[in-house]
Amino acid sequence: AATAAAGDNRPLLHYTPEKGWMNDPNGLFYDKKADLWHIYFQYNPHDPFWNQPLYWGHATSKDLTTWNHEKLAISPDRDDEGIFSGSIVIDHNNTSGFFDDSIDPDQRVVAIYTNNADIQTQDLAYSLDGGYTFTKFHNNPVLDVNSTQFRDPKVFWHQHSNQWIMVVVKSQEYKVQIFGSPDLKNWKFHSNFTAGYPGFQFECPGLIEIPITGTNESKWVMFIAINPGSPVGGSTNQYFIGDFDGVEFKPIDHFTRFVDLGKDYYALQTFSDVEKADGVLAIAWASNWQYANNVPTKEWRSSLSLTRNFSLDYVAANPESKLLTLIQTPVFQTDVAKTLEKKNITLSANDSIDFEADSGVFEFELKFKAINALAHSDLANLDLYISSADGKESIRFGYDPVGQSFYLDRSNTPYKNPYFTGQLSAYVEPSSDGQYKIYGVVDRNIIELYFNDGVTAMTNTFFMSEGNTPSRAQLKTNFDDEFYIESISFNELSV
Ligand code: FRU
Repeated sequence: AATAAAGDNRPLLHYTPEKGWMNDPNGLFYDKKADLWHIYFQYNPHDPFWNQPLYWGHATSKDLTTWNHEKLAISPDRDDEGIFSGSIVIDHNNTSGFFDDSIDPDQRVVAIYTNNADIQTQDLAYSLDGGYTFTKFHNNPVLDVNSTQFRDPKVFWHQHSNQWIMVVVKSQEYKVQIFGSPDLKNWKFHSNFTAGYPGFQFECPGLIEIPITGTNESKWVMFIAINPGSPVGGSTNQYFIGDFDGVEFKPIDHFTRFVDLGKDYYALQTFSDVEKADGVLAIAWASNWQYANNVPTKEWRSSLSLTRNFSLDYVAANPESKLLTLIQTPVFQTDVAKTLEKKNITLSANDSIDFEADSGVFEFELKFKAINALAHSDLANLDLYISSADGKESIRFGYDPVGQSFYLDRSNTPYKNPYFTGQLSAYVEPSSDGQYKIYGVVDRNIIELYFNDGVTAMTNTFFMSEGNTPSRAQLKTNFDDEFYIESISFNELSV
């Protein structure tokens, strides 16, 4: 389970490595037989910064909330090489021939990853003990196009065309390449997909079928990570909604959609082997290559995001258009240590609603409406300040009806780096009666925000001084009777 030393702003609900460096989540899968969640990740156990040799680190969980650190899962052959990002599939029918009857069909674990050496190739490793130790396939690589920029395979079984499908990027040619295979060893090229915002290069693609809420239908979603060169700076994920026939992915429209509007949500991956009627599950790396190696944690660097459920729904983008949109909701299980709830308040400038959570781990839900949205020359702000116990360091989350957007200001914290953007904003379309609903999780050095039941998400890290945790929350405004608070609730969470 996660533990936090005093003065260490290590989050408790978000996975962090005990020590060393972590980036992308890899090989996410669910073991039905053991009822256990497995995550792997890009890991340098030797230093708290990215370097080779690079390994797959490993952790397991019963509840997607508390994680056990496991031993290194896959190691490179040489110190100047890396086991780069990739995925895991469960080869139930032993198409690969790696297994015999002694291995339960639900535990036939095969990893497909990029071996980063002089060139980048796609390699296999299989596990005979349910995902703890791996043996590299003696005939690696299984896919080699003699490129130094060819990586991050995400593989899944495509029922309809009865084959394994791999999406992998020719990263600097801006191509997601789709391959098919009967046995994970022999791969045939099917098609290329190029779309969206180019940035410097494509990384970590994903393709998965996602249900549309309230219907019997589903669509395929293609995820493409870009880094550097995201419009918010550095690293981000974009997605496309479309159809997939086993050969080609065809988007339903020409929009580039972004998964998360914050700066710390990258290289997301979906879980393999999860059967869920209401969506799919995903985890991302909660950092940004612009500053990931530089942030002021000492023994360890980077956390993963919370697990999110992804579904699809038609959502008003403005009063005249509804767009099919990824709906994101966090998945975790905790007890509530302490709670506060207030309802039906017309906040005045002298009021504030205050909550204390010593642990620095809490959730909140705010439903409000701007009732007097006249143009002021002053900011007519509704603010949630989340601060250290002495109030000196804080992040500020809020809304102004003239700007019509939510802002997050993490600049009143001591960590400074010109890429560590202080102020971010997100436009969110209100419901037809002008209402907004925000759900947030604050976990010591990270805040995940979900707007209007997950229509928009925004994830950002922040770094207070050693010894300080975000243990106070205060909701307030500068104007009388500007905002009607239908409800505000806070729960301190015990992990
Ligand atoms: C994305 C990435 C991947 C690569 C891995 C290396 O963050 O650059 O493209 O496989 O990280 O650690």
